[in-house]
Amino acid sequence: MDQYEMVRRAVRSVREQTDFVPEVAIVLGSGLGALADFVKTPVVIPSESIEGYPKSTVSGHAGRLVFGTLAGKKVAVQQGRIHYYEGYDMSEVVLPVRLLCALGAKTVILTNAAGGINKTFRPGDFMEITGQIAQFVPSPLRGANDDTFGTRFPDMSEVYSGRLRAILEEAAEEVKAPLRKGVYLQAGGPNYESPEEINAFRVLGADAVGMSTAVEAIAARHMGREVMGVSLITNMAAGIDKPLSHEKVKAAADRAGEKFVSLIERVIAKI
Ligand code: HPA
Repeated sequence: MDQYEMVRRAVRSVREQTDFVPEVAIVLGSGLGALADFVKTPVVIPSESIEGYPKSTVSGHAGRLVFGTLAGKKVAVQQGRIHYYEGYDMSEVVLPVRLLCALGAKTVILTNAAGGINKTFRPGDFMEITGQIAQFVPSPLRGANDDTFGTRFPDMSEVYSGRLRAILEEAAEEVKAPLRKGVYLQAGGPNYESPEEINAFRVLGADAVGMSTAVEAIAARHMGREVMGVSLITNMAAGIDKPLSHEKVKAAADRAGEKFVSLIERVIAKI
């Protein structure tokens, strides 16, 4: 079965449970799952009840979709992201975001925990993703194309919407969140990068590195959706500061959780 038929089946599974039509889809990164607790009148759909939905295997990632309202907008939150390093194909990694788009979301907010490559960044900073480098991982569009989803060769000259970037900047100022700007590079993981790789990525123009997001942005843009991306810099990337661990990344995400929630809520109110 092709990847797009898988999405149609997933849509059918959800439609057997709810007729909710989200305006905004939000994908939550490592340790940022608390945002889902702020969704009002939530309808929770466990990922196991959705045909073909990959199982998340990472600690700190509960697999479920939460539909409801946030800051007065109808949202669908993906809690528990699927990562390439778990062993899934990219088409499976992006199934959840495609599903949320197919359910009606016109705007997609992608969030992640990332390592800071830009030496002026500090752990605890947020980063507005201005652009991305995705060539170190396979494209989620590989394989037969389905023109009802999008064109074979989609343009990627503005992956992250200028309109949404302006909204993010305004929102960050209002909630006094420390917002930086930069280019996100998706690495394959699960190992963190070597210092040599980080130096190479810096030369290529990357400001932050993570193991998600860029392929989801490609899938959403393929479907013509407007995309916003925000990273939480949980640590400085390898070789800059101290050795890395998933525990440290999660702890840093927890510390920034409250600010993150208020930032995203303010963004959604303005969309
Ligand atoms: N590298 C890759 N992914 C990450 C990092 C990092 O330093 N921090 C959080 N996610």
